[in-house]
Amino acid sequence: MISSYVRDIRTLPADLLTGWQTAGLAGVKTQFTARTLHRAFLKLHYLVIEQDLSAVRRLRPPEGVVIEQSDGERRRLDPILTSHNRESFDARIAAGRTCLFAHRGGRPLGYTWISDRVDPEIELLPLALPGDAAYLWALFVTRSERGRGIGSALTSARLAAAKALGFRLGWRAVSPANRPSMRTVEKTGADRIVGEVKITKILGRLYSREVPYGDQPVLRVTR
Ligand SMILES: CC(C)(COP(=O)(O)OP(=O)(O)OC[C@H]1O[C@@H](n2cnc3c(N)ncnc32)[C@H](O)[C@@H]1OP(=O)(O)O)[C@@H](O)C(=O)NCCC(=O)NCCS
Repeated sequence: MISSYVRDIRTLPADLLTGWQTAGLAGVKTQFTARTLHRAFLKLHYLVIEQDLSAVRRLRPPEGVVIEQSDGERRRLDPILTSHNRESFDARIAAGRTCLFAHRGGRPLGYTWISDRVDPEIELLPLALPGDAAYLWALFVTRSERGRGIGSALTSARLAAAKALGFRLGWRAVSPANRPSMRTVEKTGADRIVGEVKITKILGRLYSREVPYGDQPVLRVTR
């Protein structure tokens, strides 16, 4: 416990800078709250959305931007990763998850992840992911590059990559208040809302509640 606080303080200056450079004031706030308020209390609300991978709309990235699958070499993404992101990157690659990233001439601009299963240690949300579905998550584009179509192109490439991996469906968890993220769903293909999830984290313990929209469960465990 104490070691995590020491690490929080040690990594704060560099992470504040990365937060500012990649997400502006919101990024700075995220770095502070992750080390303070959100250690004790966190409340999240997501729509769980299913996309049919046979009906993906391909959207190309803007001129000069390339999207490729990471070979697991984190250094290529380091300039836009905070210390926490770097640890997560290594853990996800070690656990066999797939990362796609966007770059211009080698300069990283954004990334996203594909998971073939949901492990609360890695993906955090205990989703009841169907066997033929991939979990598509952690979409991020650096602030100065937003609004140019990179997020939509990453989303589209992620759906195509999940299909190529043999999946029939893609699941996402998106905050309904996150308009840019919701647009990336709407723009890339057939989608339906499976249900809603409300997560409350109190002193490190996760409490989740689901509101399924049909017969299909949304969460694997309801606490
Ligand atoms: C979500 C995110 C990846 C989108 O990336 P992006 O490169 O800006 O995406 P695009 O340029 O393809 O834009 C997607 C849509 O959002 C819209 N949009 C972009 N910024 C917006 C804003 N601030 N307010 C409202 N809409 C916005 C765009 O206009 C576009 O819709 P349109 O095609 O109808 O015009 C980016 O905003 C981000 O990294 N946000 C922080 C992390 C995050 O919230 N991730 C999602 C977790 S599920």
